[in-house]
Amino acid sequence: MAKIFCTENIINKPLEILTKAGHKLEIWDSKINGVINKDILVQKTKNADALICMLSDKIDEEFLSQCPNLKVIAQYAVGFNNIDLKACAKRKIIVTNTPDVLTEATAQMALTLLLACSRNLKQAVRNVENNMWKGWEAKDFLGPELKGKTLGIIGAGAIGQRFMQMCQKAFDMNVIYYQRHENKNISAKYVDLNKLLKESDFLSIHTPLTLQTKNLIKYEQLSLMKDNAIIINTARGEIICEDSLVKCLSEGKFHGIGLDVTYTEPLPINSLLRNYEHVIITPHIGSATYEARTNMATLCAQNVQNVLCNLPPITPITTEI
Ligand code: DGY
Repeated sequence: MAKIFCTENIINKPLEILTKAGHKLEIWDSKINGVINKDILVQKTKNADALICMLSDKIDEEFLSQCPNLKVIAQYAVGFNNIDLKACAKRKIIVTNTPDVLTEATAQMALTLLLACSRNLKQAVRNVENNMWKGWEAKDFLGPELKGKTLGIIGAGAIGQRFMQMCQKAFDMNVIYYQRHENKNISAKYVDLNKLLKESDFLSIHTPLTLQTKNLIKYEQLSLMKDNAIIINTARGEIICEDSLVKCLSEGKFHGIGLDVTYTEPLPINSLLRNYEHVIITPHIGSATYEARTNMATLCAQNVQNVLCNLPPITPITTEI
């Protein structure tokens, strides 16, 4: 019997394969116990063989050194920038994530933010809620249509490509993309970062957070963009330098900003981003559909079960480290 700790009360029906196999599973419920902290994470995992963790759990050398029995870490997310892969490899701990199953949900979230920003949804809803709707507005709440406009994608992996496809098929958008290498299978034009920033009416970020992409978009890059552009980020907050973004907003740049991710999560109460009506921020809900979250839980459970049975995991993280 193996000991498994899961750091959040995820959709837990799929985890039954673990308990049915005779493993002891403990689940932390942040709604009842509060958000898990570093000490509790260690205390609950120090004797565990397997860990199911969230993107908010920091899995570093210090943590791992206190959990000598760990064989597998199943990340309940596709992104894994919270995990020190080298430290895991050193200890021969297998790390898995949840690719593909959340592609549709996250691409739909990017589309949600794109439409919401372009049609000033936050301002319009607030107008009604604050009883400011006095009559039909002829010139208020105007925004750009999507049809025929240029969408720039940074990071054309599975989610970036799916979002690209949605925008091409539904809105006839002209799509250009930038990432480290061109992918000849993508039906969009590959351009360098500066060209992408200059030409995009809408910019959407889908690249993983790495040492190379942290603060990829700073003031210098934002300054290249059109004054009325819209930026969407459903990847990781640290890819855009938030101070630079605030500086541009204070200068009156951008039609709208849609962020499902922020530099610090949750967004600090004193964040200057809160001052702007045309900045829409959602609490990192890209994968929050019933389907995606259920499939993510299933994949985590299967990965853990396989490793505990000495079978290969289904979705190991194979990125070079
Ligand atoms: C992930 O799984 O990494 C995404 O951020 C979900 O929104």
